[in-house]
Amino acid sequence: MWDKIDEINKEIDTFTVETAEQLEQFRIKFLGSKNVIKDLFKLMKEVPGDQKKEFGQKLNTLKQNAQKRFDALSETTAASGTKAQTEKPDVTRPGFPFEAGARHPISVVRNEIVDIFNRIGYTVAEGPEIEDDYHNFTALNFPEEHPARDMQDTFFVHDNGEAPEKLALRTHTSSVQVRVMETQKPPIRIIAPGRVFRNEAISARAHCIFHQVEGLYIDEGVSFADMKQTLMYFAKEFFGKTQIRLRPSYFPFTEPSAEVDVYWGLETEADYRMTKGTGWLEIMGCGMVDPNVLENCGIDSEKYSGFAFGMGIERIAAQRFGIDDLRRFFENNTEFLKQFKGAQ
Ligand code: PHE
Repeated sequence: MWDKIDEINKEIDTFTVETAEQLEQFRIKFLGSKNVIKDLFKLMKEVPGDQKKEFGQKLNTLKQNAQKRFDALSETTAASGTKAQTEKPDVTRPGFPFEAGARHPISVVRNEIVDIFNRIGYTVAEGPEIEDDYHNFTALNFPEEHPARDMQDTFFVHDNGEAPEKLALRTHTSSVQVRVMETQKPPIRIIAPGRVFRNEAISARAHCIFHQVEGLYIDEGVSFADMKQTLMYFAKEFFGKTQIRLRPSYFPFTEPSAEVDVYWGLETEADYRMTKGTGWLEIMGCGMVDPNVLENCGIDSEKYSGFAFGMGIERIAAQRFGIDDLRRFFENNTEFLKQFKGAQ
């Protein structure tokens, strides 16, 4: 037993290693989980009582010796250590790429529209997506049960019957006009981007969820000409086009009302397709805020006047990025969204 200790000690002292494998063999034999020193510890019970202490001390010294020798051998063995410590890093190896996100094309276009109006003094206003019937329709001069409401097929929200108002998902951002006029005094100059909802079948050209940007300007003496000028400014800034036309239209909350077309031109086949051969691209609805709406919101219609406009973002974004199917905007397919990297 005692001889065994000396034997192992000798073996440790004379062990030579040249390669990492040999070093590993040393480690397994003398320091591993089933090493030979441990085996000797197991013999402790056979050692007579008065010698147990000395035997234990010798084994501990042996153990320390094995560790010391291992450390020394590790230092002198060129191939020692783990792979990561010994192998030189390959500086030519490509890094691990990580995907940077891209702004959604709808956000890109929304931000650009907001920026353009910021520059002429409009600030952003927001309102709730779940809206009551009053703000979405009644205050905007849509009489109850009036067929004008059919212009916007509505998702109603079924509550538990306790809500004081009939609730719906807002069908347009014009509801924000009402909320702003109720709480602010003219001059009012706001732009209200947001998500809106209509009960429509989803196709390449329509979706039940989409985005609009609403504009509203109320002050003393605001005229139709002011509206035209503002819309021309927008057409120039956003599309780089200088010609617009207003076609008479109808909205319950504006009078007179118009659809705004921008002259796009007919240079390419795509222009033909996009403008249906007319060269004109419809971009928004607009009009002078109906005096009834002003009064509904507590604004003196004798003193103040103003205009409002509203445009859908999807169609404009589709034109801007050459996208032929509006459903792409809502699928969150990263292969599609990646293409807009770099757009702000
Ligand atoms: N809210 C109208 C729509 O969704 C657009 C509009 C806004 C028209 C403001 C006139 C003035 O169709």
